[in-house]
Amino acid sequence: MQMSTTPIQRGSISTKSYSDEIVDKEAGRLFEVINQPKLWDLETCRHIAPLTLEINELKKEKDVFLIAHSYQTPDIIYGVADSVSDSYTLSKAARDAPQNTILFSSVRFMAETAKIVSPHKTIIHPSPEAGCSLSDSITAQDVRALKEKYPDVPVACYINTTAEVKAEVDVCVTSSNFLKICERLPGDKLIFVPDRLMGKHLTEYLEGKKEVINYHGECYVHSTFTGEKIKSWRQRSADQGISLKVLSHPECDADVIAESDIVGSSEKLMNEAMRLSSEGESDIMLITECGTADRLRAESENEINLIGTCVMCRYMKMTLLEDILQALREPRKNQIIELDEEIIKKAQKSLNEMFRLAE
Ligand code: 13P
Ligand code: SF4
Repeated sequence: MQMSTTPIQRGSISTKSYSDEIVDKEAGRLFEVINQPKLWDLETCRHIAPLTLEINELKKEKDVFLIAHSYQTPDIIYGVADSVSDSYTLSKAARDAPQNTILFSSVRFMAETAKIVSPHKTIIHPSPEAGCSLSDSITAQDVRALKEKYPDVPVACYINTTAEVKAEVDVCVTSSNFLKICERLPGDKLIFVPDRLMGKHLTEYLEGKKEVINYHGECYVHSTFTGEKIKSWRQRSADQGISLKVLSHPECDADVIAESDIVGSSEKLMNEAMRLSSEGESDIMLITECGTADRLRAESENEINLIGTCVMCRYMKMTLLEDILQALREPRKNQIIELDEEIIKKAQKSLNEMFRLAE
């Protein structure tokens, strides 16, 4: 029988029936933890409560650890996730979780990374079609061609890549450690793949110390921001007496980075925004995917005035609570990460090298 690969639509899965009392209690919990009363009002929370109730029951029953990246939607992050953070912290969470089954709510490369760092565990990825423009921009063959062209030059790859690409490189890096790790690599040259904008940032950082051979991939979300736009927002805010703090992700272009007060991973941006607001600097512009702003609204104890806009990643937003419930009940074959053993062994080396050099 042909398995369906079509993502489930909101509201199209039949849920277990719970008493009104249980649903109301769960809806109240969701309303409080999501903490966005306009977008996630009590009625909406009541609607999703049967999903979160059954997901949390199944997690316990099947001893599943549920990991969600920061860019997942608030119903997933606050309703059912056990661990939420950036890609570096989540790869460690996957490695260290005592449970033998992990459900990874995010894009495919993160679920693959979980399988590489813990091959004996079952990794469930509810949305097999959730890719990433960076990871789609490069193949293992592209890396082999670069290595042939530049023999003996170390190759660092951003974690936003397939397992096959990771298997070809010397070290993996993430948004939280790429500068530090690349600086530590031996020699006066390195190949950096696949993000050309992070590569640009790295080139500037290592100027005079190392030459960076760059690739041409980019994140379609972060590459849309421009330094010009930030400048004009700063000016507009200054005209109103507002001193704007600009926080951006390193997947943005160099002109954006130059205009930013703080640059870092999704988790760092979130923590820095919380710190700034606790120090009274509450006019904040987040130059990244919308999930970080959602988390900030939910978790900050201080008033935050989020200025400007954010961009949603269509891949990160593919997973719904419905997909998670279906995958937990009975995962389809294509929702379980399977990787070639040789690829796992080789990719493990580059991820272990990252853990070693990052700490
Ligand atoms: P972080 O590691 O900063 O969470 O980044 C992952 C990602 O895909 C950003 O677009
Ligand atoms: Fe990939 Fe960009 Fe989406 Fe992150 S935000 S998953 S880098 S496309």
